[in-house]
Amino acid sequence: MKILIVYMSYHHMNTEKVARAMAEAADATLAKADEVNPGDLAGYDMVGFGSGIYGGKHHTSILALADEMPPMEKPVFLFSTSSGYKEEFHTPLRRKVITKGCTIVAEFHCPGETTLLKFIRMNKGHPDEKDLEDARTFAKGLLTAPVAVKQE
Ligand SMILES: Cc1cc2nc3c(=O)[nH]c(=O)nc-3n(C[C@H](O)[C@H](O)[C@H](O)COP(=O)(O)O)c2cc1C
Repeated sequence: MKILIVYMSYHHMNTEKVARAMAEAADATLAKADEVNPGDLAGYDMVGFGSGIYGGKHHTSILALADEMPPMEKPVFLFSTSSGYKEEFHTPLRRKVITKGCTIVAEFHCPGETTLLKFIRMNKGHPDEKDLEDARTFAKGLLTAPVAVKQE
């Protein structure tokens, strides 16, 4: 199965670590959101979209890619890192890919180190080795038993 993982990561490169772990485990192609042509997504059997959470949602470059991708009936998975986690963080991206005709087969989240005001540190050291192992397990699961999850 040809899998593309598109991500955006800039704060502590937390999501990049997760995306790399997933790509290695699932033998997937890895690309940054701003390097992807929306039309290229059609060439893959499954696409993953992930980033840190900024202001309660995925990065604008990921949301823009979901807006710009052509309509396609494709299995997709969503992932993120953030300081806390609320299920709603994935909602804006969820809605966009579903509007395009995609089916969300799985979602993944883990804590990401966050620095606020230069001295407040949260989730220091995350994603840690356990988080990355969870990401690998998640990615391997995509190859064997993708199951459709919540559709809004
Ligand atoms: C500008 C900014 C806004 C953020 N907003 C949120 C937020 O709304 N909720 C949350 O749980 N974490 C928030 N975070 C924490 C990041 O989601 C977290 O550090 C994430 O792991 C960063 O991913 P990255 O290193 O891949 O960029 C924010 C971080 C930054 C820098």
